[in-house]
Amino acid sequence: MAETTRSAKLTIDGKEYDLPILTATAGPDVIDIRKLYADVGVFTYDPGFTSTASCDSTITFIDGEEGLLMHRGYPIDQLAEKSHFLEVCYLLLYGDLPSTTQLEDFEDRVTAHTMLHEQMHFLFRGFRRDSHPMAIMVGMVGALSAFYHDSLDINDPWQREVATIRMIAKMPTIAAMAYKYTVGQPFVYPRNDLDYASNFLRMCFAVPTADYEVNPILSRAMDRIFTLHADHEQNASTSTVRLASSSGANPFASIAAGIVCLWGPAHGGANQACLEMLKEIGTPDRIPEYIKRAKDKNDPFRLMGFGHRVYKNFDPRAKVMKQSADEVLELLGIEDNPTLQVAKELEKQALEDDYFVSKKLFPNVDFYSGIILEAMGFPTSMFTPIFAVSRTVGWISQWKEMIADPQLKIGRPRQLYKGAELRDYVDIENR
Ligand code: CMC
Repeated sequence: MAETTRSAKLTIDGKEYDLPILTATAGPDVIDIRKLYADVGVFTYDPGFTSTASCDSTITFIDGEEGLLMHRGYPIDQLAEKSHFLEVCYLLLYGDLPSTTQLEDFEDRVTAHTMLHEQMHFLFRGFRRDSHPMAIMVGMVGALSAFYHDSLDINDPWQREVATIRMIAKMPTIAAMAYKYTVGQPFVYPRNDLDYASNFLRMCFAVPTADYEVNPILSRAMDRIFTLHADHEQNASTSTVRLASSSGANPFASIAAGIVCLWGPAHGGANQACLEMLKEIGTPDRIPEYIKRAKDKNDPFRLMGFGHRVYKNFDPRAKVMKQSADEVLELLGIEDNPTLQVAKELEKQALEDDYFVSKKLFPNVDFYSGIILEAMGFPTSMFTPIFAVSRTVGWISQWKEMIADPQLKIGRPRQLYKGAELRDYVDIENR
């Protein structure tokens, strides 16, 4: 983190304090308040962390005003078009695009770890068949720490690397098994001659009586969905992973914490909620009614797949996703898909409405992804698990960066206490 000679002045009760300003490579600089409490005796107040940088990072950057997302400096639209998921994983994890040999070696290592410990199959059977696959994923990913004892020591770089590869390799297997379990079909083992996306599609859709012919266009679309969700700087689930692991918790448990946070409808759960909303709207003539509800402060309803904490412009991922939706639906011969028509018309009407324009609310990554996933054959309950598979590499990259940082401290926010002042305990008969 580059320090500069610039500083900010803070005046409290007539006394002036200098606070250093740290310079960012891109985006806002930050006022360094690390010594604020020690020197001044006050905390800062920022619920929801709207103005607080919780760490420095070299992985991902979002320019919300411009609608730019870049990983290690490369814009997401170029990565979505020219790269593929495992190459993006390498980039996020190690900082640079791989050479051919480095990529082959990385792909080999991931491929060698796709199977789950056989004993874990029995754990699935403990869940109810109608469990949400996210509930199963939370349990199974946490349970990895009970099966892979040789990669739990976060202070050993080799064990961190093994845990990294294991999670990237096993996450599609766990998600696919969660799906198979909930539809009552036998698990399909991974096949290491297939690429990452094709293998995932096959594990979800093959059955013992009929293998699944992987359509290369669908597998490319699946890979692109993984790529578009791979990382997103300090979002809620990533911050959860950082906070959970700052205590020294093992990597599998920390990633399970990220999955929990992702599940919520304001975050990764929005893709499921969005498709359900589009289906509920059903036909374009009902759109004005839903836009009216979204604008009504007395109605908790929000347009799902719309708005973002950081983007005040088009989410660049949504642009690629919209194009991908058109391609996939055309391939499958369902261009006149009514849900896509509702989505496009809803986007158009919202972007012409002063409420959404003035608040800079644009479609986000979750707006079109569900339409593609549904067309591929996934039920809505699998949308967020697929997000979790994709985001695992982001969580791990950020976790590795944090653990390697010599400044690492346990994450421990402060508070503005508004409760009762000190008082004496009152015996129950006197209350
Ligand atoms: N529909 C209607 N109004 C909205 C929406 C929406 N989708 N999003 C924000 N607003 C309004 C909100 O009511 C508020 O109005 P006011 O200033 O009058 O109180 C204003 O816009 C700012 O919203 P906020 O809730 O203060 O903003 P935030 O940064 O805390 O929330 C968000 C960001 C993504 C949680 C929110 O936009 C939202 O709930 N969107 C719908 C859920 C969604 O699509 N989430 C996926 C996000 S992208 C993928 C991911 O992160 O996983």
